Amino acid sequence: MIETIDKHRQDFDSRIHSISTPEPLKQLRIDFLGKKGCVQALMKELRQATPDEKRQLGKLINDFKQHVENLLGEREDDLGKSTNNQTSQRESFDTTLPGKKETPGTLHPITQVMEEIKTIFLGLGFQVEEGPEIETDYYNFEALNIPKDHPARDMQDTFYVDGDAVLRTHTSPVQIHVMENREPPLRIIAPGKVYRCDSDVSHTPMFHQIEGLMVDENVSFSHLKGIMSIFLQEVFGKETKVRFRPSFFPFTCPSAEVDIQCVICRGKGCRVCSQTGWVEILGAGMVDPAVFKCVDYDPEKWTGFAFGLGIERISMLKYGINDIRLFFENDLRFLKQF
Ligand code: PHE
Repeated sequence: MIETIDKHRQDFDSRIHSISTPEPLKQLRIDFLGKKGCVQALMKELRQATPDEKRQLGKLINDFKQHVENLLGEREDDLGKSTNNQTSQRESFDTTLPGKKETPGTLHPITQVMEEIKTIFLGLGFQVEEGPEIETDYYNFEALNIPKDHPARDMQDTFYVDGDAVLRTHTSPVQIHVMENREPPLRIIAPGKVYRCDSDVSHTPMFHQIEGLMVDENVSFSHLKGIMSIFLQEVFGKETKVRFRPSFFPFTCPSAEVDIQCVICRGKGCRVCSQTGWVEILGAGMVDPAVFKCVDYDPEKWTGFAFGLGIERISMLKYGINDIRLFFENDLRFLKQF
């Protein structure tokens, strides 16, 4: 039996020294210290020995067991450390690697153009005002000199909400709210959503307008021309030509439609400008005295101009977009370009 123990010891020693990974080490532990391992087998054999032999052999087996446990422990510690090292090397942080890119959102192109226009008018001394999107017939039409049955109501395909209430068809009612609440002189712009029952490549049932209103003593049509020219050249470039065409709005007199030289063909004529070289960009005019009377302003003392422009239209021309519906489809391939 002493020889058997010796053989096992040699066997164990040579196996443990050839091991360099944790798996075979586990197997070695099972082979020597497991329930069916060789130390247990030696113990079983010991039961048949005489009491004297038991004392002597028992000590030898215990020494051997101790030897196996010590070496296994050491080796397990060593291998554990080196595998930990490997993982920590794998997980260590390389500060020279390029960072993961976050993709932050951007403002919607309509919001961007809206902000740009606001900034231009703030620079010209205008204040920003807001009004409700659901209006009464009075504010949307009546006070703007558009009486019931006036043909001008047909120009704006109105969404009726309930009885007297409508979705505002333009931002002009904000003019009335502001003038009811404030005394002149005033210079305001009113950005916001407006609604018309209309839908095709250049119309959506909801779109955005910016209204402008300036009231003071001696405000004339030349002020309107000056302010509109400065604004349009700021948005479309210094070299942009601007022209005023006579037009009609019930709440301004005289009224004009303002065109800019086509930004796509620079006046040569193309599909966007229907070969005319010009594109219509906004409506404007001198505030009609009938409107001043509605808000108790003295038309003999005060004069003013008003203008209204569509943000989608301006954005389409600025960026060369040919279908207004792209603004509202929320397609990221479109939105990411701005
Ligand atoms: N409210 C008019 C429209 O929506 C535009 C406009 C505003 C015209 C102010 C003149 C003055 O068509």
